[in-house]
Amino acid sequence: MKAVILVGGEGTRLRPLTYSTVKAMVPVLNKPFIDYVFRYLSNHDVNEIILALGYKPDCITDYFGDANQLGVRLVYSVETDPMGTAGAVKNAEPHIDDTFFVMNGDIFTDLNLTDMLRFHKNKGAKVTIALTPVEDPTRFGVVETDNQKRVKRFVEKPKREQVTSNMINAGVYIIEREILNRIPKGKRFMFEHDVFPSLLADRGPVFGYATEDYWIDMGTPEKYLQLNRDLLCGKSTQVAFKAGDICVGKRSSVNPQAKLTAPILVDSDCIVGKGVQVKGPVIIGAGCKINNGATIENSILWQDVTIGEQAVLKDCIIASNSYIENNACIECATIA
Ligand code: GDD
Ligand code: MG
Repeated sequence: MKAVILVGGEGTRLRPLTYSTVKAMVPVLNKPFIDYVFRYLSNHDVNEIILALGYKPDCITDYFGDANQLGVRLVYSVETDPMGTAGAVKNAEPHIDDTFFVMNGDIFTDLNLTDMLRFHKNKGAKVTIALTPVEDPTRFGVVETDNQKRVKRFVEKPKREQVTSNMINAGVYIIEREILNRIPKGKRFMFEHDVFPSLLADRGPVFGYATEDYWIDMGTPEKYLQLNRDLLCGKSTQVAFKAGDICVGKRSSVNPQAKLTAPILVDSDCIVGKGVQVKGPVIIGAGCKINNGATIENSILWQDVTIGEQAVLKDCIIASNSYIENNACIECATIA
């Protein structure tokens, strides 16, 4: 089975982190986010991944090249301008020959794709949309289903008064190839605003596959921090890290007078100085230097970050090569 991953959009809500890279490449537990999506899809028998690239395609192609990751075939489908979620899939049409998966490129989930495919076939669906419960559906596509799980209504980013269900579009679809005929060529087109509403108006068989499995859209700094924190605390079945773990990489040195509270992941070639306090969940990328007396709490440092003496960081994301001055006190910030 083939899967299209939507790796476009400018990732505006994750700025300034996405000035230098794309959302799909931000590090999660010190590995590019998209690596997890690859592994996830390959675990569900996906043997070809089509990357629909709408923004800074080089960030992705330079990283993967022609690499035949995990035995999965890789195909790049590059848009000249971002074509929207459905336009991006239309652009990839030459590579699609049968029923296929589509996945938003900012979703981390444990949902069982194999079971979802079984559901899709049993229902005779043309489109199956994975559904997940959230507290505030206004930031998502809200989906209403009947007691047969058939979708009755889809409203993207509903106003509060339009919210009739807490089940939202989880950004994972199974689609029959013929649906591509409903998407115009060379035009910006969205599943959420164009394809789904018009298909429902035509009474097309669209079904909702509800799941309570771990799910997150990591497209904002808060959610990106939460994903990393959740994985460090063992909330996904895909990552073996546990809340009590402290893991220090090769050639990294931690001063015996530093105080570390789990969960903490430190990559290779780091220096953690005297009197430093690291209060997990904290992730420190390769080549970071935490100078004497600094405190880091609930934060993520990308690669080659230097933290000055006595600096205090809480709830922060610090992009690669940043330098935080001595005695700085920073809370809830994203620095790039
Ligand atoms: N290739 C390509 N081209 N990809 C695109 C484009 C484009 O023009 N526009 C957006 N994407 C990709 C984004 O990179 C992201 O991976 C995915 O499509 C969804 O876009 P977001 O910008 O993250 O949308 P959202 O999070 O506000 O809403 C979407 O996801 C929700 C679930 O997280 C919608 O699908 C909602 O209905 C859904 O609930
Ligand atoms: Mg998103």
